[in-house]
Amino acid sequence: MPYSLAMQTLIQNIRNIPKAELHMHIEGSLEPELIFALAKRNQVALPYASVEALRAAYAFTNLQSFLDIYYAGASVLLHEQDFYDMAMAYFERAHADNVIHTEIFFDPQTHTERGVAMNEVINGLHRACLDAKAKWDINALLILCFLRHLSEESALETLEAARPYRDKLIGVGLDSSEVGHPPEKFSRVFAMSRDLGLRVVAHAGEEGPPAYIWQALDDLKVERIDHGVRCLEDPALVARLAKERIPLTVCPLSNLKLCVTPDLRQHPLKKMLNAGLCATINSDDPAYFGGYMNANWEATFAALDLTMEDAVTLARNSFEAAFVDEATRTGYLAKLDAAF
Ligand code: HPA
Ligand code: ZN
Repeated sequence: MPYSLAMQTLIQNIRNIPKAELHMHIEGSLEPELIFALAKRNQVALPYASVEALRAAYAFTNLQSFLDIYYAGASVLLHEQDFYDMAMAYFERAHADNVIHTEIFFDPQTHTERGVAMNEVINGLHRACLDAKAKWDINALLILCFLRHLSEESALETLEAARPYRDKLIGVGLDSSEVGHPPEKFSRVFAMSRDLGLRVVAHAGEEGPPAYIWQALDDLKVERIDHGVRCLEDPALVARLAKERIPLTVCPLSNLKLCVTPDLRQHPLKKMLNAGLCATINSDDPAYFGGYMNANWEATFAALDLTMEDAVTLARNSFEAAFVDEATRTGYLAKLDAAF
C-alpha cells in the first residue's frame, strides 16, 4: 500500500536526521555479492550456486534458522583486508542514512574457530573505523561479542586473545542462540571485561524470557540491553528499565524476519516508547533482514504510525545510549537540534 502524503513527507524528513546505530553485527552486513566476491578471492567453496540462490535462502523462521546461514556466509572472511572491505561497505551505507555514530558488533569466535587469527579480525575492522572517520566523519567503535552457544571457557580464551587489542575496543557483548544459554553462564567473563574497563551489553529478551533481561542486568551488569522486546511481558522489569534509563537497542526488521513479531504493525516499539523506555531503532543484520538504518526507520514509522516527535525521541535516545564522553554527546545533540 502506498504511503499517505503526510507519511511520505515524514519519511523524507526522518532520512535526514542524524542518528547513532548501536546494534549492528558487521558479519550481518555482508551482502551476497560481497560474499561471492570474497569466496572467489579466497577460494572458499560456498554451498550456494549463485548470489540469487543464496538470497533465496533468506527465508527465516526463527533466530537459529538465520544464524546457520549467517555463520556460513562469514566463512569467506579470512584476511585483514576482507574484514576491512566488509566494514567499509557498511560505513558507506551508514553514511548514506545519516548515521554519524555507530557501535559495531563482531564475533571473533566465528573466525578464530576457523583458524583466522584475532589480529586479522580486529586490525581490519579497526583500520576501517579510522578510514570511516576520515572519509565520512563517522565515529565508529567496536564491541566484541561472545557467542553464547559456546562455553564460558571459550569466551574467556577469546577475551585473553583480544587483550593486546584492548585499546581498539569500546566494549563486549553477548550474541548467538539465546534460548538455553542464559546470561548467568557468562558472569565471570563479563566481570573480567568490566575490570578491563570495557563497556558491557548483552542480547536478551529477543527470543528468551524476561528472566534473561533481569540476569543481564544483575549478573552481567550490562549498561544496555540488545533487543529486549520481551520486557513488556513483565511490568516490574519495564518499571526498572524505565527508572534506570537502561537503553534497549530494538531492531524492527530483524524482529519481523525472525518471526519475533508476526507483523510490523504489531511491533512492540510504540508500546516501549509509551512506557517511557529509552528505546532505539537499529538494523541488526542489514544484509539479511531487508534493510539498513533508514529502511528500519521508514518501515517502522509507517507500520506504527509514528510521528516527528517520536523521531526526535528515538534519535535523542540513540545519542543518550551511545558510549561517548559528555562533550561528544552534547555535540551530537546539537547536530540533532540543528537538523530542525
Ligand atoms: N541475535 C542473536 N545473535 C545474533 C543476532 C541476533 O539478532 N544477529 C547476529 N547474531
Ligand atoms: Zn543482534
